[in-house]
Amino acid sequence: MAIIKKFKAVKKNPNHLLGIQDLSFPEVSKILDEAKTFIKLNKSSSKKIDLLRGKTQINLFFEPSTRTQSSFELAGKRLGADVMSMNIVNSAIKKGETLIDTAMTLNAMHPDIIVIRHQDSGAPNLLSQKVNCAVINAGDGRREHPTQALLDALTIINRKGTVQGLKIAICGDILHSRVARSNIYLMNMMGAEINIVAPKTLLPHSIEKLGVKVFTDMKKGLDNCDIVMMLRLQNERMQGSFLPSAREYYEYFGLTPDKLKMAKKDALIMHPGPMNRGVEIDTNLADDINRSAIREQVELGVAVRMACLKIYCQSI
Ligand code: NCD
Repeated sequence: MAIIKKFKAVKKNPNHLLGIQDLSFPEVSKILDEAKTFIKLNKSSSKKIDLLRGKTQINLFFEPSTRTQSSFELAGKRLGADVMSMNIVNSAIKKGETLIDTAMTLNAMHPDIIVIRHQDSGAPNLLSQKVNCAVINAGDGRREHPTQALLDALTIINRKGTVQGLKIAICGDILHSRVARSNIYLMNMMGAEINIVAPKTLLPHSIEKLGVKVFTDMKKGLDNCDIVMMLRLQNERMQGSFLPSAREYYEYFGLTPDKLKMAKKDALIMHPGPMNRGVEIDTNLADDINRSAIREQVELGVAVRMACLKIYCQSI
């Protein structure tokens, strides 16, 4: 796979997938190569293999999730693991149990892998220090969402052949987005040029230090881009007012056919979902099968998660 390694990542947590920042370039290549082998299986009529037979996977989602949780659940089941998705609403967490106590309780049941999504940045790292099994981060606060970035990379490779040398615009609520952070680390490592497009109020302090160009004018930020990655306004993480109105936001930062004209003719539209149609993206563009790779991202997400479960389940 033709990927350029720009930064030498320090290997911190070899047995857990906590963030793209912890991964080395060969580890990223290994996950993506492994994921490619599952794409065909996921399209076949018999989708189940017994690679993880006898292994137990626990999904621990403290935040709402449709695609990530179902994707991890299907991925585990297709590999033959026993998958248990904890229902947080009916769990002791609602009775005040701490994350550590929950971790210790689950650990006593000898799982082989725990997939966790949590509203606090760093929660998966803490969990990984308390359990004997592998931990996969399915999104923590505003920090990282490594499997989303990996599936985004696989989608780009599938459509464009490579990430290296592409110009990628990541647009929208960068401040609150773990997807943006993981993608900046990964796409940089893979040799892309990254434009960040957002209103000033939704830009993290010193973001340019991560090796990106910053734009507050969307048309300039999209100029000659190969990939246009849109993000949702993460209202649940906003305290106070960051924007005058959703209507005004759409006017200046929503992806419309007019603004898309600035990007390359064959530029690919991406979005991690869930989408707010008419807020960050024009509804027809989101559904345009010639331009939008949004459904493919969901499809390839299962393959990427199968690869991660296989690799990390076997590394412990
Ligand atoms: C993202 C997340 O949860 O960070 N969604 C996802 O995993 N598909 C982005 C979002 O919620 O907007």
